[in-house]
Amino acid sequence: MLQFLRKPRQVAALAPSSRALAKAMVEQVPHRAKRIAELGPGTGVFTRCLVDHGIAEQDLTLFEINPRFADLLAHRFPRAVLHRLPAQELAGVAGGPFDAVVSGLPLLSMTAAEQEAILDAAFARLAPDGAFIQFTYGPASPVRRGICGKLQLTFTRTRRIWANLPPATVYVFRRARVPARILDMEPAADAWTTRCLEPT
Ligand SMILES: C[S@@+](CC[C@H](N)C(=O)[O-])C[C@H]1O[C@@H](n2cnc3c(N)ncnc32)[C@H](O)[C@@H]1O
Repeated sequence: MLQFLRKPRQVAALAPSSRALAKAMVEQVPHRAKRIAELGPGTGVFTRCLVDHGIAEQDLTLFEINPRFADLLAHRFPRAVLHRLPAQELAGVAGGPFDAVVSGLPLLSMTAAEQEAILDAAFARLAPDGAFIQFTYGPASPVRRGICGKLQLTFTRTRRIWANLPPATVYVFRRARVPARILDMEPAADAWTTRCLEPT
């Protein structure tokens, strides 16, 4: 709460995410995933859930720019690799390829250029079938129009987590492997909704 009052645009939430939202995020991590990058872990709600899910702490790479949260994470997860850097710098650090990027970043309050830099950096370090997992409080994809098309990404929207305050929806972005016009005709069987590359 205090960090939100100090840096509202950066923190963008009055309280840490609920355990219910953390579980919904971690459910989207691909089976047999080993190395995970987490962006904007804050107090470490998703980090804890990832460790409980079986991800080894030393296989976690965290990016957190808030010094208070970074100190807390260093204390709570001493074996994780912690970068006190913006997520935009993910492509420039050692480590990976990552099987998933779990993001608690406030994408909705970022500019299109910031969003594109983050997704571009993440997909530069993700394995070819890696997933970028993001939640949003909004009613639609948190990634601004045109960016998925430009970076050749598809996305899947999963269920809304009503137990979270405010309710949140988890989105999973992946690099497209087939032309957009084919994706247009092939909704995924394992998800509630699949959207295709939007027109640029
Ligand atoms: C909405 S909070 C989410 C915290 C936690 N993941 C959760 O769900 O409770 C957003 C977090 O992202 C961090 N953050 C914002 N912009 C960032 C950036 N460009 N790079 C890394 N961390 C960032 C903030 O400091 C904050 O900890």
